[in-house]
Amino acid sequence: MPRTPLIAGNWKMNTTLAEAEQLATATVRAAADLLDREVMIAPPFTALAQVADTLHDSTVILAAQNICWAEKGAFTGEISPPMLKELGGTMAIVGHSERRHVFGESDALINRRVAGAMENQLVPILCVGETLEERESQRTTAVLEQQIRACLAEITVTDPAGLVLAYEPVWAIGTGKTATPEQAQEIHAFIRKLLTAMFEKDIASQIRILYGGSVVPDNVDALMGQEDVDGALVGGAALQADSFERIIHFNS
Ligand code: PGA
Repeated sequence: MPRTPLIAGNWKMNTTLAEAEQLATATVRAAADLLDREVMIAPPFTALAQVADTLHDSTVILAAQNICWAEKGAFTGEISPPMLKELGGTMAIVGHSERRHVFGESDALINRRVAGAMENQLVPILCVGETLEERESQRTTAVLEQQIRACLAEITVTDPAGLVLAYEPVWAIGTGKTATPEQAQEIHAFIRKLLTAMFEKDIASQIRILYGGSVVPDNVDALMGQEDVDGALVGGAALQADSFERIIHFNS
């Protein structure tokens, strides 16, 4: 069974309410004729409710940029799965490299986020990736294996649509340096093999693995042409309606 491509826009800490409204409206329009792929956007928390209204009746998926494991309580600065679900959100980015490197989130903490999302029928997009130093010292696959095994510890996957991975090399995020399509494919194939060792083969073969890190209109087609690249997690280029429109209309 072919995996349905997923193009995900991560708006990060950007957009006023007016800008969010405009961008979400443009995305709905751009995605309206796309039946063979999924499009997701993750606005900042302040714009989730408003964007939820704009996405109502559209096929565009609403996601949060992070999610807590607990339902409610003393977790200052966090939002819970039921809070997101109340707005119609169905996915959440977890373990983004900015969460790891700027805010110090550990694999163990990210593992709790993944588990909490899945227990609440939210689809986590688990981000992993190596730094430049790790790549240059030939530690890329060891680092990824460690991140993936730790972030997915004690996680059971019964439905492959219930979990998404995103390979985001840290050196490619927001830098304009993209992994080549061959580099991305090599790592995605490695991740697929690792998932096969961790989960049932039929499940592992269907889990989507996105590439992220300076995806732009000019490189999306070649990246999406790779066998194990099942989508893209897009930051900067998702903030411009015309470039995101081109990216979601990729030809592979
Ligand atoms: P970028 O960000 O596309 O701006 O490199 C990707 C991401 O951080 O998810």
